[in-house]
Amino acid sequence: MRILVVGAGALGILFAGVISRHGGDVVILTRRREAAEAISSDGVIISEGGSSWRAWPECTTDPRKASRADLCLICVKSYDTEAAARMVSPYLSGQCLVATVQNGLNNVERLAEVFGPERVVAGYTLQASTLTGLNSVFHAYDGETVLGSHPSTKTPVEKIRQVADELTKMGVKTAAVENVYPEVLTKLIINSVINPLTAILGVKNGVLLEVQELSWVIDELVLEGVEASSLLGARLSPEHVKNRVYEAIRATYENKSSMLQDIERGRRTEIEFINGALSRVLRSAGKPAPANTLLTQLVLALERKGRRSW
Ligand code: PAF
Repeated sequence: MRILVVGAGALGILFAGVISRHGGDVVILTRRREAAEAISSDGVIISEGGSSWRAWPECTTDPRKASRADLCLICVKSYDTEAAARMVSPYLSGQCLVATVQNGLNNVERLAEVFGPERVVAGYTLQASTLTGLNSVFHAYDGETVLGSHPSTKTPVEKIRQVADELTKMGVKTAAVENVYPEVLTKLIINSVINPLTAILGVKNGVLLEVQELSWVIDELVLEGVEASSLLGARLSPEHVKNRVYEAIRATYENKSSMLQDIERGRRTEIEFINGALSRVLRSAGKPAPANTLLTQLVLALERKGRRSW
């Protein structure tokens, strides 16, 4: 199976590195020429558990290289999902499945619009990695990746299972479940807690466990997230979600969240697609969303600070 990884960020480099190390046929497609050059000349370097290893996935800026892919893994930021999909869609074969485990709400819907609901595979990942250079990442946690059926896709379950099995064979431990939607929304709530709080405080994920004042904020975010999920058609238990949030913080203790990494680089964050999206779901149903709205505005202000555009 030839795999096309779209995006050379922390997750794209990690997935492509692991697949290549396990002998998989993988190509990274990125728009950033300097990243493509670094990966093509020096490979990708993954640091984990106190040591590091190198792998040699192919890397290109040329979307025509997408043509032989059997599976396309979209690993761009959620605000780039549609542009990435439109860039590769003319070149992908009609048989190629397109999978997303990105952060944020509505990636699946955007991909389904471009590729059709029969070709899109939805899921989430708890892999935690920090981009440390153009071609290197620190792999902080080897978390689960889970794929499954989703209300916006019609991809047959057997095909989803095949994809999960292939990825697992190629070193990316992936499970397939009947209905991944509740867990996708749970992961969204996990991101709605970890990402803005670490970005605002400028701390690694694990510090959130030590700041007592945050436990109230976390409770509020979980309650809002659970209510938004129910409006989106998934009933979640607040207790279960809260446990998953704390488990994720503990597991990714050493990681810098993707939002903190974006703020530190002066880049746009995914806040509008995480807390902003939850806030919009609640408010458009006439429900208050104070915690998500406040954190969205604070992170947007931080982004502006990074761009020095007060
Ligand atoms: O966005 C992130 O940083 C990741 O999704 C996670 C799992 C919260 C780890 O930092």
